[in-house]
Amino acid sequence: MDIRTISPQNRQQINDFIKSRWFSTEMVVRGEIVDMTVLEGFVVYENETIIGLVTYRIKNNECEIMSLDSLKENQGIGTALVNKVIEVATIEKCTKIKVITTNDNINAMRFYQKRGFDMVRIYHNALDISRKLKPSIPILGNFNIPLKHEIEFELNLFK
Ligand SMILES: CC(C)(COP(=O)(O)OP(=O)(O)OC[C@H]1O[C@@H](n2cnc3c(N)ncnc32)[C@H](O)[C@@H]1OP(=O)(O)O)[C@@H](O)C(=O)NCCC(=O)NCCS
Repeated sequence: MDIRTISPQNRQQINDFIKSRWFSTEMVVRGEIVDMTVLEGFVVYENETIIGLVTYRIKNNECEIMSLDSLKENQGIGTALVNKVIEVATIEKCTKIKVITTNDNINAMRFYQKRGFDMVRIYHNALDISRKLKPSIPILGNFNIPLKHEIEFELNLFK
């Protein structure tokens, strides 16, 4: 698998990819607007085309996955990208890796829990605040589930 680090050379291509996936390079998490164009991460290429991306940030010895996308599902791309973040977070001596997903994202909830992430917190009605900051967030999510809550998962790195 052709996995590379986000660098100044591929940054613009990655920003375009983020926009195509999320309509904007700004993401709202727990009421905070995050500029995704400055995040670190890893990217998977197939013939110089991006087919997977993970972005993360590290603060106070905690790593947070900010986005994870795979354009070719069920081939191991998502797992490989999460493993790269675990590798970096371990080297950086992070105590945990956090990730937030929304209540409609059943697939992500399966994916993270099967990779050792535990469901630790729910931010009830967090999307009400997010929509004030980013009105383009839809009312209905996957499977037409009302998009309302943020759910936080954590992987402890030192137990
Ligand atoms: C969640 C997401 C990143 C998973 O990516 P993915 O590339 O499909 O992930 P993987 O291929 O590594 O794993 C998915 C499944 O495929 C299976 N799989 C992996 N390689 C496989 C292979 N070669 N053959 C068959 N199945 C395979 C895995 O076992 C896994 O199943 P499991 O979760 O039940 O164990 C992807 O679905 C996605 O981009 N979703 C939309 C964005 C999103 O919701 N992101 C997460 C919120 S931040």
